[in-house]
Amino acid sequence: MAFKTIIEPFRIKSVEQIKMTTEQQRRRMIEAAGYNIFELRSEDVIIDLLTDSGTGAMSSNQWGGIMRGDESYAGSPSFFHFRDSVTDIMGFEHLIPTHQGRAAERILFSVMCTPGDVVPNNSHFDTTRANCEFTGAMALDLPSPELANMGSDYPFKGDMDVDGLKAAFAEHGAQRIPLVMLTVTNNSGGGQPVSMANVRAVAEVCRANGTPLYLDACRITENAYLIKQREPEFATTTVRRIVREMCDLADGCTMSAKKDAIVNIGGFLATRDPEVAQKQRELLILTEGFVTYGGLAGRDLEALAIGMQEAVDEDYLNYRIASTRYLGQHLRDAGIPIMWPPGGHAIYLDARGFAPHIEPTRFPGVSIAAATYIAGGVRACEIGSLMFGHRDEETGEEVAGPRELVRLAIPRRTYTQSHIEYVVEVVTQVFEERERLPGYRIVEQPPFLRHFSARLAQIA
Ligand SMILES: Cc1ncc(COP(=O)(O)O)c(C=O)c1O
Repeated sequence: MAFKTIIEPFRIKSVEQIKMTTEQQRRRMIEAAGYNIFELRSEDVIIDLLTDSGTGAMSSNQWGGIMRGDESYAGSPSFFHFRDSVTDIMGFEHLIPTHQGRAAERILFSVMCTPGDVVPNNSHFDTTRANCEFTGAMALDLPSPELANMGSDYPFKGDMDVDGLKAAFAEHGAQRIPLVMLTVTNNSGGGQPVSMANVRAVAEVCRANGTPLYLDACRITENAYLIKQREPEFATTTVRRIVREMCDLADGCTMSAKKDAIVNIGGFLATRDPEVAQKQRELLILTEGFVTYGGLAGRDLEALAIGMQEAVDEDYLNYRIASTRYLGQHLRDAGIPIMWPPGGHAIYLDARGFAPHIEPTRFPGVSIAAATYIAGGVRACEIGSLMFGHRDEETGEEVAGPRELVRLAIPRRTYTQSHIEYVVEVVTQVFEERERLPGYRIVEQPPFLRHFSARLAQIA
């Protein structure tokens, strides 16, 4: 008999104390932080949903691997464990270990791009965009038009706009497009999955133009599980096979292993092309390290090798996707507007729908994130006009970003169902009192990446 409760498929052997705080203390701390959640100390946070990157709990097997890690400079067995594990799952032959995803991006774009090139992606993550544009190439986002319809049931809002991709080839020519990328799942696009039909269609356009396709694969196993659940052709296919089919359609990938591979640090770059791999290794040695450790210690490579195998375990993925959906479903049942359907790693609140009385230039997402912290010590991340807007230098006026979201990212294997239920209660309470949420203004901001360190004040 199948029971309706999907339990955490692990037991807890070691615990980390959470410091409990009062509302009054949190009110003082967020004010002292200039209402910027990045300025809070993590020990003053009760449930930290700032990111799912590097914040997962490693298994006892992974910790065992940490002890077994071999720290030889060259030819360490830990490198070969890492290589064999990744190749077993993804099939790529040439693997280049890096300290995290962005180092893989830097090497990839440095080898492939020249100034004036164009790199299409369903949505570039911010480090992907920055590394691409650093080479003088243009990072072109081609999200599915379905992404704009936040509340609809469309199952694959992370897809790339294939007509847009064809148009990009027609406009710029294949010689100006050195590679196409597909981010699975689409983090900047609400954490939404990409369908296999879309991977196939994008790969076909790439093949027709003789252009390599690279996956930004940091959440590929979560994406594969969502394909299994939502794309009827794959209902009985294993996640392993789905991941392999996605990779078989591509020429390589970048990977931040801090996500699906459940390590606290690590990443890699993979390719099938031996000549490209050779150029990538030359750059790797320049800044990351020798080819058999890249930017990592042997122990990190062991943890990564084991984490990759755990990431395709379907009992784990069933729990992972169910717990994200649980949060989304309960918030939606409380009438809270969110990006629907839930993706793999996070729930995105629609801050405009949540607090329509706050203009985008008065940062509704900041207001909601500050309120969830004050109410219950829950740290969420604004992805709105603080992050993507700017101040017009001539007029001094704020210019809003494209959308107002608040992301509740769920670290892997870290919080239990009661933690998630607590988050539902906290966000629901903030929503019930939403009319009292104040707008904010920036009182201090740096010239770049202002969301990390800007200071804000409430507007009376
Ligand atoms: C889709 C995506 N690509 C790339 C990266 C960059 O990875 P890292 O933080 O390991 O450099 C991230 C990190 O959040 C991401 O979400």
